[in-house]
Amino acid sequence: MAPTTHSHDQEPRGQFAWWSVRRWTTLAAVTMTIRREGPADHRAVEELTRDAFWGLFAPRCDEHLVVHLLRGSPALVPELDVVAEVDGELVGHVVYSRARVVEPTTGAEHPVLTFGPLSVRPDRQGDGIGGALMRHTLAAAAELGHRAVVVYGHPDYYPRFGFRPAAAVGITAPGGASFDALMALPLVPGGLDGVTGEFHEDPVFVVDPERVAEFDRGFPPRPDAVLHPMEVIEGRLPAAATQRLRGLGIGHLEDLRRLSRAEVAAGAGLDDEASDALRALLAEHGIPWGSPRGHSAWTGAVDVS
Ligand SMILES: CC(C)(COP(=O)(O)OP(=O)(O)OC[C@H]1O[C@@H](n2cnc3c(N)ncnc32)[C@H](O)[C@@H]1OP(=O)(O)O)[C@@H](O)C(=O)NCCC(=O)NCCS
Repeated sequence: MAPTTHSHDQEPRGQFAWWSVRRWTTLAAVTMTIRREGPADHRAVEELTRDAFWGLFAPRCDEHLVVHLLRGSPALVPELDVVAEVDGELVGHVVYSRARVVEPTTGAEHPVLTFGPLSVRPDRQGDGIGGALMRHTLAAAAELGHRAVVVYGHPDYYPRFGFRPAAAVGITAPGGASFDALMALPLVPGGLDGVTGEFHEDPVFVVDPERVAEFDRGFPPRPDAVLHPMEVIEGRLPAAATQRLRGLGIGHLEDLRRLSRAEVAAGAGLDDEASDALRALLAEHGIPWGSPRGHSAWTGAVDVS
């Protein structure tokens, strides 16, 4: 990995001999470049973010505005605002910002990093680009002296990088709520020791829907994405399982993205077989979810190199 500690006027650039995990048998090795985002990338990164998040949780998305606003925020960590390119084409982006864990009783504040949005161009998803961006930036963050990362994200994706439920180390959402999508990772040994309390991101993450709509008008018109109603899997899961999922308040398949396999299994009372079937059905609809059976979301190998 190329050095990741750089002054602001340098362009950190990492060249990776990279191949697609899925397609390595058919593609010759290609090179992916990970480098700092520059002003010339701004619009393309916003379009990439919009493409990656459109219809992910809702018919539209607001993450492209978050990226836009983060650039003007003092919370932004410029060294960790990076793009991935393959064959000179922008295929991925991630940005980190400063956040805090605040002890509710004493008001003591612990600085942490967070990241997001993380976006991979839809036609290149599943090729290892998101993983490469994560490994590169987590190592770079440690080299820059940061001690820990806390994030809201797909609860069965980030454990492969070492993330664990934040609740396990005493970190909750504001107000004390705990769920698997809030995760934490120490970047150095002991990086989370004594870091307990409520996680607070930069205010730019809370966006006004009217401002999103106005910002979005600057992009090519795009129809609302159609979410997958639960009915599309009815009849293909045991009736009791469908009923239980509805009991969790799941109206669309996309709602499952916020829940881990373990949470759904426990909350909806799904056995391994029903969880496997649900995972396969979601995959049929282009929704990666959960982890393979036997690969507990929270005991996956730490792979930060
Ligand atoms: C999520 C995302 C960043 C992952 O990047 P990627 O390059 O597609 O992922 P990688 O190729 O590194 O990893 C693919 C693996 O992750 C798994 N995966 C992807 N998304 C997942 C999810 N939401 N939950 C569980 N596993 C997931 C895939 O099933 C695949 O598993 P495998 O290695 O066992 O085959 C990318 O798909 C993306 O941009 N998605 C839309 C935007 C988004 O969701 N951003 C993150 C918000 S927290």
